[in-house]
Amino acid sequence: MSIQSVVARHLSEDRSSAFARDVIEGLAARPKRLSPKYFYDEAGSRLFEQITELPEYYPTRCELAILRAHAADMAGLLPAQTALIEFGSGSSKKARLMLDAAPAIAAYVPVDISSQWLTQEATRLRRDYPRLAVLPVAADFTQAFRLPRSLATLARAGFFPGSTIGNFEPHQASAFLQHAARILGEDAILIVGIDLVKDAEILTAAYNDAAGVTANFNLNLLARINRELGADFDLTTFSHQAFYNRERRRIEMHLASRRRQQVSVCGRMIEFGECETIHTENSYKYTVESFGALARGCGWTPVAAWSDVEGYFSVQALRAGT
Ligand code: TRP
Repeated sequence: MSIQSVVARHLSEDRSSAFARDVIEGLAARPKRLSPKYFYDEAGSRLFEQITELPEYYPTRCELAILRAHAADMAGLLPAQTALIEFGSGSSKKARLMLDAAPAIAAYVPVDISSQWLTQEATRLRRDYPRLAVLPVAADFTQAFRLPRSLATLARAGFFPGSTIGNFEPHQASAFLQHAARILGEDAILIVGIDLVKDAEILTAAYNDAAGVTANFNLNLLARINRELGADFDLTTFSHQAFYNRERRRIEMHLASRRRQQVSVCGRMIEFGECETIHTENSYKYTVESFGALARGCGWTPVAAWSDVEGYFSVQALRAGT
């Protein structure tokens, strides 16, 4: 066996035991919870791509419209010879809009937890942008990770679209912003997508689509636990719930047990009461001002903000330093 495959095997064992540990801990907690980072296995990533195309799911459409209209302004903030580092790159569709508008970008560093996506996309990007250095990093970007050494001579810009920062608790969002300021360095630019506070009806519909794709995405977490950890969740006995929590300005996603039951997970029996839920994700909504204030407290100065015509979504540019 080659060294590489031994290392790869250890990494994947580490990952799956971390998964098992997190699942057991989350299901033992009250209220029960599971980390949204585990949504994105292969099936989950595919379902997520479908969510972004749903008629009710406005964030992706709005953000793409903002990027199409203003990528040139954003590019204007980047010095020559910049490396664009994307946190959670997925299909890199939004990064392509930046790459098309910004000849200053000399290197693109997609960071993603799913190495399969990364490899596929890197191949396509190298073909479509032959002069661009494409340097993928397979990592959980919420943890410390190293940037490729070859970036040493380049300026740096972070790219964090998709309102993924809204999936962090405010204290985690702060920690992420501080961590990003540290790895990107003095004077770096961070371009970040932020979903805006709006009518509860529009918000709720976006996470309760009529076709049920978001429900399947949420339930896939239990299917993944069955597949990878040998649990026996009966998916027909759990239902998707998503609602707007006005006080905390967040959409909450849960999986609710339709009845009292016991589920075996990693050799442990987990009890569910009727209607008891597992909290799987939050999606915090900000105003341009409330996000700007958060960023200021974490070593960043807001320099510009763009929005769609309806004012549903915003893309904001921050500069490292106060
Ligand atoms: N960050 C986006 C949001 O909160 C996308 C997203 C993450 C999402 N997890 C999701 C969308 C679950 C729907 C369901 O909207």
